[in-house]
Formats: sequence, structure tokens, C-alpha cells
Amino acid sequence: MIVKPKIRDFICTTAHPEGCRQNVLYQIEYTRKIGKADGYKNVLVVGSSTGYGLASRIAMTFGYGAATLGVMFEKPPTDRRTATAGWYNNRAFEAEAEKAGVFAKTINGDAFSKEVKEEAIEIIKNNMGKIDLVVYSLAAPRRTVDEDHVYSSVLKTIGAEFKSKNLNLRTNEINEAVIPTGNNDEIVATVKVMGGEDWQDWIEELKQADLLADGCKSVAYSYIGPELTYPVYFNGTIGMAKRHLAETAEKLTEMGVDSYISVNKALVTQASAAIPVVPLYTAILYKVMKEKGLHEDCIMQMNRLFRERMTVENVVTDDEGKIRVDDWEMRDDVQQEVMKRWDAISNETVQELADVEGFWHDFHNMFGFNIDGVDYDADVDIL
Ligand code: NAI
Repeated sequence: MIVKPKIRDFICTTAHPEGCRQNVLYQIEYTRKIGKADGYKNVLVVGSSTGYGLASRIAMTFGYGAATLGVMFEKPPTDRRTATAGWYNNRAFEAEAEKAGVFAKTINGDAFSKEVKEEAIEIIKNNMGKIDLVVYSLAAPRRTVDEDHVYSSVLKTIGAEFKSKNLNLRTNEINEAVIPTGNNDEIVATVKVMGGEDWQDWIEELKQADLLADGCKSVAYSYIGPELTYPVYFNGTIGMAKRHLAETAEKLTEMGVDSYISVNKALVTQASAAIPVVPLYTAILYKVMKEKGLHEDCIMQMNRLFRERMTVENVVTDDEGKIRVDDWEMRDDVQQEVMKRWDAISNETVQELADVEGFWHDFHNMFGFNIDGVDYDADVDIL
């Protein structure tokens, strides 16, 4: 099949197998260049096939030679449809791990379910020994607890509707986004999906099965960002879920598993492209950080996290106990420049003040497109 991108708003419904493989190879190469080190040995990554979770897993496998179990929720290919990008990413990752002689197994199923947790426990018991790091990097639209309890997360404000400048992803023009307020049920549902309840379930199940090593650590990812995105993020429905995630970290630590929130940089991923207002902020941020030589992608962020902020021996946090790898994004000079451009940006200046091209480049890349050296006119086996 000749595979071309089919983009609808913030989602691409096709993925290129060879492009996805190249993405994974780039991340492996980047990690290998930093060099091998002593570190975590047995790692569980929940949400392991794209974005920050995939980068965490690659950092573990090729930086530390760690055995990993990944959990993802991805669609395999059929005769007529490509797989999702995460499925191709994972296949490429597993092939490279095997070549390197490092254990890597993946469960493709619903991480929220009891069955997947039980399967994970079996695999860990039979193949890995005790886990010394649990990475929780799930970004999910919904969670099924049982037939009668299906929760969907929403990206809404709390209290008052929010009007803001926005990048229209269909036209690349600046328009106004109006973000409605979430009601109480929607807040509760978003916390159910993106809060810490399921993270806690994973840790409790592993603990009960006696599969957590002494000194085992855990980390989940969060975002804070600038005040201009507070109504839609930090103080919105997703922000409530992230607060719950942070409270869960404290709870898990009290239970004896040192657990942390790592606040990461805003990056184009499947999860973040779906949030209104955030793509425009990200496009401006990319331009400013690239100009200052501070831009990082997922694999750079995750290597910095595990090499400098969250090693086996030492965890570096801010006053609130959070790990900050959004530190360069939040630097005063970066934020001041972003705010200046945010105020000035219009249809006439958008290309000059924001890295719209960079945004779309990363967006296409996530699905294996626009990658140097890949022939997109060639027939490719999608199976
Ligand atoms: P992503 O969309 O790239 O990755 C989500 C992962 O979760 C994928 O591996 C997917 O297969 C898996 N997944 C989704 N539903 C699942 C289910 N039911 N069962 C098993 N696996 C499932 O997302 P991204 O952006 O890497 O997000 C990961 C975490 O990082 C999230 O907590 C997000 O809030 C956080 N974060 C993201 C930032 C960004 O700018 N992208 C910034 C800071 C934090």
C-alpha cells in the first residue's frame, strides 16, 4: 500500500510503518550516544507506545539495559487499514530491543482493566523479577470500570467559559476558541480517567503480588504551563485530574513506594494536540526555545529526567516535591518572549512569530510522515 497522511483536525487516521520505525531508531540512537550507565533494571511502563511513555521506555532499554514490560492500547493493521502509530512504534522498538539482547514484552490491552493487570503480573513473575521503576504515562480519552461505569475525560474550564486566541488546525489561521465549562459530572469523570486512581491500582496490585523491589520508585507525568493556558489546563478539568495524580503520588509514597510527579515540557503528542489553545502556545514556544537553543523533544526530556533528575540514588525536586523538566520552558526569559508574541500574534504575523511549520512537522512525525529518507511514494507492507 502507498500510505499517505489522512488528517482530520488533530488526529491522523493513517500511520507509516517505516516512518514510525525511523522515529524509534532516532530515539534509540540519541540515547545510545549519551552512553550506557548503571540505572533501573526492571521497569514497567504503562502507556508505552507513543509520546513520553515510549521515550521513557527507550531511555531505560538503551540507556540502562533495563528489562521492560510495556502496556499500550493500539490498533493492529488489517488488510486495508494501517495500524496506529503506536503499534508500529512498538513493533520497531521490540525488534531493536531483541537485537540488543534486552528483554522487552508488551501487552496491547486496556491498562485500566483487571485482566491486563493480572497478565502483567504473570509476565513480571515469570520473566522479570521485582520491578524497580513504574512509569505511569497513560493519556486516555476514557476508562471503563465496568459495563455501567464508563467515564470520558473532557478538556473544559471550571467556573467560567474561556475565550482565547487559538490556532485553527484546519487553516493555520488565528481564531478565537471558546472553551465551555465542565459540569461536576465531567470533572469527576476526567479525574477518574486522568487522575491517580488507576496508578494506585497498579501499584497496589504489584505490591500485593510482592513484585516491587525494595526502594522501587514510580513516576507519573504532568503539566503546568503558563498562566495563559491555566483556564484550559492547570485550572481546568484536566488540571483537577493532575492534582489528583499529585495527591496519589503522596499516598503511594506513604504506602512505601517513592512516587513522583514529573512536570514535563509542552510537546506535540497525540494527547496534547487535542487540547484547545495549547497548539498555538506550543507553536510559539517551539519558535522561542529553538531560537534560544533550548528546544527538546520527548527523548531528550526523558533522558534528562532519568539521567539528571530521577536516578536510582537521587531524586531532585522543587519545594513542592515535584520533578521539573519543564524548567527551560518556564524560564523567565522564555516565558516573557512567549507572552510578548502571544499578545502580538495575528493572521499576518503567525508564521513569523510562531513555529507553525515545526508544529506540523512534529505532528506528521508522530504518525511516521515527513521523515527524511523515507520514500512515501513507495509501496509499503502495512502488516
Ligand atoms: P500519548 O498520547 O503520546 O501516549 C499515551 C499512551 O497511553 C500511548 O502509549 C497509548 O497507547 C496509551 N494508552 C491510552 N489509553 C490506554 C489504555 N486504556 N490502556 C493502555 N494504554 C493506553 O500521550 P503523551 O503526551 O505522551 O502523554 C503521557 C503523559 O504525559 C500524560 O499524563 C500527559 O498528560 C503527560 N504530559 C504530556 C505533555 C505533552 O505536552 N504532551 C506535557 C506534560 C505531561
